[in-house]
Amino acid sequence: MNIFVTGGAGYIGTHTILELLALDYNVVAVDDFSNSKPIAIERVKELAGRDFTFYEANVCNISKMDEIFSKHKFDCVIHFAGKKAPGESVEKPLEYYKNNLDSTMALCEVMKKNNVKKIVFSSSCTVYGANNPMPLTENSSVGECINPYGWTKFMCEQILTDVVNANKDWSVALLRYFNPVGAHESGRIGEDPQGIPINLMPHIAQTVVGRIKYLHVFGDDYDTPDGTCIRDYIHVVDVAKGHVAAIKYIDKNAGVSTFNLGTGDGTSVLEFISTFETATNKNVPYKISPRRPGDAPICYASTNKAENELHWKAEKSLANACEDTWRWQSMNPNGYERKNIYK
Ligand code: UD1
Repeated sequence: MNIFVTGGAGYIGTHTILELLALDYNVVAVDDFSNSKPIAIERVKELAGRDFTFYEANVCNISKMDEIFSKHKFDCVIHFAGKKAPGESVEKPLEYYKNNLDSTMALCEVMKKNNVKKIVFSSSCTVYGANNPMPLTENSSVGECINPYGWTKFMCEQILTDVVNANKDWSVALLRYFNPVGAHESGRIGEDPQGIPINLMPHIAQTVVGRIKYLHVFGDDYDTPDGTCIRDYIHVVDVAKGHVAAIKYIDKNAGVSTFNLGTGDGTSVLEFISTFETATNKNVPYKISPRRPGDAPICYASTNKAENELHWKAEKSLANACEDTWRWQSMNPNGYERKNIYK
């Protein structure tokens, strides 16, 4: 099976390509390196022990996409490429709407022209409204997003749904990720945020490695057992395997299918810190700071649908993710920029 992967050099893209290659899928990937590095692709090839075709290009560039589609015969597309920083999206809404919507529409257009009818889309639990009971199921209410990034995910889900409504033989999987964390166990690929990281795991890792003085715990006065926010952290390798399961699923099922990719377990920020400390034997310096605007107190997934229909379930623990992140961070203290200092 030939799979076209957009955003292949990114955090989830690299881990997913590695899973696909291990299962003998043929992969052709594209990335414009706007938020990733070419060396990530080299490392995936090295870990897989095999080559795959890669193009440096932006997915919004229809003529380039058309050229790629005419050179290869794809069975399925996985669309990771997109801008993903919620805070930045508030400051630069047009960049987010333009890039994330244009790329999805360009891809659909080129797929239609080249008779490719299957696509897996990177969505997010950010599409769920704030007033749902927990755990969130795929039927929980969506919309009421709190930033343009979230709206782009919501709108792309709608665009893909409408494309399927007009083309009944298409199959689309909308994968709503909860909080992906961790790295490949080799320590060779991982999350490489540019500048000061926004998300909790890279922020902790960079604090321990000394790039950041201490972690701000955003609020300890929420209505949760220890007062800090609760999230569903899922190992990135489990997320990657969820994509393989989704490819298998849409190969057999036409229409739009939506799946949560989470663990079903909620972890507070303080529990996260102590899991990281135990798993790595490192101290995480932190201080309690004011709440971060827009943070929901509790968010975790129902995993029943993914388990029953995708036959997929997260297997790795948060402790595994902490060990793997720490290996990646200590082997690559400056991310992909610098050479492996332990070599
Ligand atoms: C964030 C985004 C979400 C996006 C997801 C991608 C926001 C409001 N939400 O989710 O749209 O889909 O990333 O992974 O930006 N925390 C700290 N200190 C820190 C960083 C985080 O205490 O330095 C806390 C947060 O308050 C939160 C938890 O850790 O309770 C997780 O935060 P984060 O990793 O940023 O993920 P989300 O906010 O869940």
